[in-house]
Amino acid sequence: MPPLLRDSALTAAFDHGAGRYDRLVALNPGYHAQLRRSARRLGLTDGGAGRRVLDLGCGTGASTAALAAAFPAAQIVGVDASAGMLERARAKRWPSRVRFVHAPAEELRRAEVGGPFDAVLAGYLFRNLTDPDAVLRTVHGLLTPGGRLAVHEYALGGRRVDRLVWDAVCRGVILPLGTATGDRDLYRHLWRSVAAFDTAPTFGARLGRAGFERVRVLPLPGWQTGITHTFVGHRADAETDRAETGRAETDGARTGRARSGDVEEGGAR
Ligand SMILES: C[S@@+](CC[C@H](N)C(=O)[O-])C[C@H]1O[C@@H](n2cnc3c(N)ncnc32)[C@H](O)[C@@H]1O
Repeated sequence: MPPLLRDSALTAAFDHGAGRYDRLVALNPGYHAQLRRSARRLGLTDGGAGRRVLDLGCGTGASTAALAAAFPAAQIVGVDASAGMLERARAKRWPSRVRFVHAPAEELRRAEVGGPFDAVLAGYLFRNLTDPDAVLRTVHGLLTPGGRLAVHEYALGGRRVDRLVWDAVCRGVILPLGTATGDRDLYRHLWRSVAAFDTAPTFGARLGRAGFERVRVLPLPGWQTGITHTFVGHRADAETDRAETGRAETDGARTGRARSGDVEEGGAR
């Protein structure tokens, strides 16, 4: 079994598949509606007026469009490692408050994608990363105090039936389509990367370890129930940050702020 696609090999696979990506995801019932639901779960008020939002791993702009719809007044930056995917995104019609940057999530600083951001959405990104913990810590550092992260990801719910449904969908639909369109490697990666990735409770706990607070693991409706989740976490607000910093200074060391992950299953909203 070949290893999972990572870094430049994964980017090359997305570059190759970029031209067919939108047509393939259009066959997935609810793809766009579910991204909009995850975007709304960021919970910015006033349409995001005066807020900066980052779309990490924006691809061809499906998640960016979800953010633009959920927060019609926010400034949005879409970032992606694949030039091919970004070319498709940039070719679409966007309001002037939306812009795109070509950069890997691991090199945001070098690409001058600086914070603070009030909110970050990562749609179908984290499962693809070599070091998801490092990127979670980077995102945490880019957020304003009280800022939020929503990760929209295939992360199986942990029941045997979730894995059976995912395998059946991949064998019956995703792999045949990927093979027919010439993107077998990319869609085989999709199948295997989900199987190898954290379950939903495990990824929720990972957010907690990266410093996020009030982590919630929220289900999504439709056939993806138990397969795709929204994970929402917050950076501590200013008061908590001040208290933590003060304690760290008193201790003469940075606090490791151990967190349980505080995982909860909420109702789909
Ligand atoms: C499955 S697509 C999802 C695109 C979009 N967020 C959506 O919801 O349709 C995953 C995207 O993540 C990007 N990606 C993968 N690894 C990345 C990395 N290390 N840094 C930035 N983007 C990355 C890929 O190029 C691809 O465009």
